[in-house]
Amino acid sequence: MGRLNGKVAIVTGGARGMGEATVRIMVEEGAKVVIADVLEEPGQALAAELAGATVFRKTDVTSQADWTAAVAAANEMGPLNVLVNNAAIVMQKSIADTTEDDFMNIVRINQLGVFLGMQAVLESMKAAGRGSIINISSIDGLQSKNSLCAYSATKWAVRGMTKAAAIEMGKFNIRVNTVHPGGIFTAMHGNEFMSQEDADQFYTRHPLPRVGLPREVAAVTAFLASDEASYSTGSEFIADGGWHAGLLEEALPQL
Ligand SMILES: NC(=O)c1ccc[n+]([C@@H]2O[C@H](COP(=O)([O-])OP(=O)(O)OC[C@H]3O[C@@H](n4cnc5c(N)ncnc54)[C@H](O)[C@@H]3O)[C@@H](O)[C@H]2O)c1
Repeated sequence: MGRLNGKVAIVTGGARGMGEATVRIMVEEGAKVVIADVLEEPGQALAAELAGATVFRKTDVTSQADWTAAVAAANEMGPLNVLVNNAAIVMQKSIADTTEDDFMNIVRINQLGVFLGMQAVLESMKAAGRGSIINISSIDGLQSKNSLCAYSATKWAVRGMTKAAAIEMGKFNIRVNTVHPGGIFTAMHGNEFMSQEDADQFYTRHPLPRVGLPREVAAVTAFLASDEASYSTGSEFIADGGWHAGLLEEALPQL
């Protein structure tokens, strides 16, 4: 018996990367999943491969109308009880080079999109009598880097909104948590331009000295979607190879 039998989920940004890995692991564990993404071709292909357990709905997370349609599609599969707010974009620009339009564009997708998603699923999850919302933040929602002022603002916002939502929704047996990936080998990380071995070179001083893989984060998300996480809400779950703990100082004694 799968750990997610009886779960009906929406996964935003589910067409590729960590979202795709999340869709796959959830289906393996028995869930039915709406793949909600702006990318039609890979989204349709994934839904066709996993036919019977998934449907694809073209969804822009900044559109309330698209959210209404995605929720309706989920409720056709059974009572909606899981939402993974995974869709996001990244932008690497110095503060001086970031325009107001740049800033507001990333806020709309990464921050407003998560808010609209939580709002859109609320009534369905209340009716279902339970729910788990997993908001994908980042290590940059715990710390930051030069060039990531706007991206990091959105990922810290996701972490804060998650806590407010957990407090408001707990009485309806709806849990809300964040997942904080470190460097994960996806398109956002440039996997179209570099090999996994090349990507490993960015992480030689990290506690686990290699790039992470999408499934290593999806497994944490699947845990939070499952009833095994029934007493966890408003919390942060980090899957970053230890990055947030600190980096190896090569000048100091070591094993
Ligand atoms: N890859 C990393 O190193 C890393 C690290 C920390 C956090 N994250 C976070 O993990 C999540 C997944 O990232 P990924 O690495 O798989 O990236 P990715 O670029 O491979 O996938 C992101 C998906 O989101 C979709 N998307 C973008 N804008 C959208 C919109 N307006 N509406 C609907 N879908 C939209 C894209 O089409 C894409 O399928 C993101 O929230 C990202 O910020 C990634």
